Amino acid sequence: MNHSDSKPVALTGDRPTGPLHLGHYVGSLRNRLALQETHRQFIMIADLQALTDNIDRREKIEQNIRQVLLDYLAVGIDPNKTTIFLQSAVPQLAELAFHFLNFVTVARLERNPTVKEEIRQKGFARDIPAGFLTYPVSQAADILAFNADVVPVGNDQLAMIEQTNEIVRRVNACAQQAVFRECTALVGSQGRLPGIDGQAKMSKSLNNTIDLRSGNQDISRAVQKMFTDPNHLRVSDPGRTEGNVVFDYLAVFDPDQTGLAELAQQYRRGGIGDSMVKGRLNSILQTLLEPIRNRREILESNPKELVSILEKGNIKARKVADHTLSQFKAALHIGHF
Ligand code: TRP
Repeated sequence: MNHSDSKPVALTGDRPTGPLHLGHYVGSLRNRLALQETHRQFIMIADLQALTDNIDRREKIEQNIRQVLLDYLAVGIDPNKTTIFLQSAVPQLAELAFHFLNFVTVARLERNPTVKEEIRQKGFARDIPAGFLTYPVSQAADILAFNADVVPVGNDQLAMIEQTNEIVRRVNACAQQAVFRECTALVGSQGRLPGIDGQAKMSKSLNNTIDLRSGNQDISRAVQKMFTDPNHLRVSDPGRTEGNVVFDYLAVFDPDQTGLAELAQQYRRGGIGDSMVKGRLNSILQTLLEPIRNRREILESNPKELVSILEKGNIKARKVADHTLSQFKAALHIGHF
């Protein structure tokens, strides 16, 4: 066993349905940057999961695979430390998911709160693609194929981790041996970043995001549009900082939290205008996103390098997943005769 094998394993993924945004950055990308120093990390571009509700929009998925890869590399995910791979390039994951379906009931799938909420949002009613209803099982295969100890995700993914661990217990009970071990979710310490409109979640479909690739003007415009306190009309009025998106963001991104606490106090008393706090946030976000955008531009100019990074990752991932799949089948005597 070499040194890297003794490190705990981290695995996570994103559906390539759109560019990654500040919500991803706060909720999980920052954790991944730290984990690549301490863990054996795998990051998967979940194109098959994205197809479960986008089979007629394959072009969108195709284009976003490259965008998400660029987002990873631009924020500093290092392919020498982290294995980045494409879900569809590792067919062992699909086979493992197929076996796992025997360890889950339809009733349990219908109870998953994240999937339930998505079904409501997408207006599927009873016309749910079976692939969509079962994607948490496929996600369990993604996680368990790599024997992940930790899964850095946003808090909307906690339900998936719970369902994964149920599958672990069922498989182990059925095989009467410890085929898999349970995993732990690692949610960003800041929790969830609200959308610029004040809705609880930053999401592409709600059109309230700040993307990591945003230009100067996109950032300023988004900050301008941010929801503050609708009753804070004049500078002299006392303002609410609670439920005020600008202050929510400052709490996450402002490096000077002491200065921020004073500013918030003054804002609540009255005498501080929205334009002043927005200016402060704007310059903080510009400083954060500029180097990310610059790295992205350099990477974009070398498409061959991008392809090679992903292909190398795919090869490594297939090897690991293949090993796990064989062990699983051996433990359950599947395919023996
Ligand atoms: N469900 C995740 C998302 O919505 C993507 C994903 C797929 C994932 N497989 C995973 C996340 C495994 C963590 C672990 O973006």
